Amino acid sequence: MTSTNPSTDALSLIDVDHVRFFVGNAKQAAFFYAMTFGFRIHQVADLTSGNRDRARYLLTQGNIRFILETPLDKTDPAADEIRRFGDGVKDVAFTVEDAQAAWKQAIANGGKSAYEPLTISDEHGSVTTAGIQTYGRAVHSFVSRTGAYAIDRVKQGSMFEPGYRPIDDLALNDYNEANPCGLMFVDHCVGNVEEGRMNEWVQWYEDVMGFAMFKHFDDADISTEHSALMSKVMASGNNLIKMPINEPADGLKKSQIQEYLEWHDMTAGVQHLALRSNDALGSVGELRRRGVDFLCIPETYYETVWNRVEKTLAQHGQEAIKEDYDRIKDLGILVDADDEGYLLQLFTMPLQDRPTLFFEIICRRGSQSFGKGNFKALFEALELEQDRRGNL
Ligand code: FE2
Repeated sequence: MTSTNPSTDALSLIDVDHVRFFVGNAKQAAFFYAMTFGFRIHQVADLTSGNRDRARYLLTQGNIRFILETPLDKTDPAADEIRRFGDGVKDVAFTVEDAQAAWKQAIANGGKSAYEPLTISDEHGSVTTAGIQTYGRAVHSFVSRTGAYAIDRVKQGSMFEPGYRPIDDLALNDYNEANPCGLMFVDHCVGNVEEGRMNEWVQWYEDVMGFAMFKHFDDADISTEHSALMSKVMASGNNLIKMPINEPADGLKKSQIQEYLEWHDMTAGVQHLALRSNDALGSVGELRRRGVDFLCIPETYYETVWNRVEKTLAQHGQEAIKEDYDRIKDLGILVDADDEGYLLQLFTMPLQDRPTLFFEIICRRGSQSFGKGNFKALFEALELEQDRRGNL
């Protein structure tokens, strides 16, 4: 299926420019993500660099760029959002050729502006950003860059935008360089929307962004005995990013999507970011060593998984799993397979006190899907945790 909207040329996405989080204390959050996930605390824009409205930390790893942002003034609307939602993702930003043109096109396609085009520049170059509103509290910024701020330069370590200063001489950065976690880029970004609104947002991504339903995935009714959800995967034209959208479905007990919404002021938002690794065992091993808490996978999962995955791979003439089975099990990693190969994945516990945002570590060996075969096992594990929090 392809986009029905021809007016999306200006919206051709070059890269995931960055993911921006609203957090209560950017300085401290920076150290959490650096220590646990191995990010480099790369640059900062705060009072010390002349920024008096918000503090922003740029964290980098591979082609992942996070901005951790904290308002410095109580009247800043971001302060209100943090009170309502806790820490979480505000913005999934895309690099484009011309941010203003992309923003105009998205609005012409039926999108709603989140903020108007804004250019900041200095003698080294310029960065233009403009935002549109997506589900709930989330926005998509379009970012176009020139000179020293061009995305290729930024990837090589150049300054992110005017107003930032580099962070040098940080022992933690040296430590992370010597002990890499191997996270390469944002593989997908999942949103939770309110019950009954998934198809509306699927349509929105088609109409406004020119995304299309990802061909490897169709409507799936994913349910356990107790709770359920519906999920559809939208992908950008060049498959640069996939954005699955979940809505809660009725179950005997509370859906995990419903739990998210209830702790997120009944407002849609980003549920998880999947970060790609090419070495699941290495990455998860290092992350565990650093104290990342992952979902506990029930022992019983490994009694059936090998048969299920091997059978699927053999059926489609795909190569067998090359990772050591015992190490996969010891590290508590999930495995799934489809007609194109297999994948290894694992989900962290919530990254903040509220059970909202979490990360997924994903390693693809041919498979382009999302671990559908793991949903049942995953939900059973999630429900165990939900029960422990008294939210089931
Ligand atoms: Fe995922």
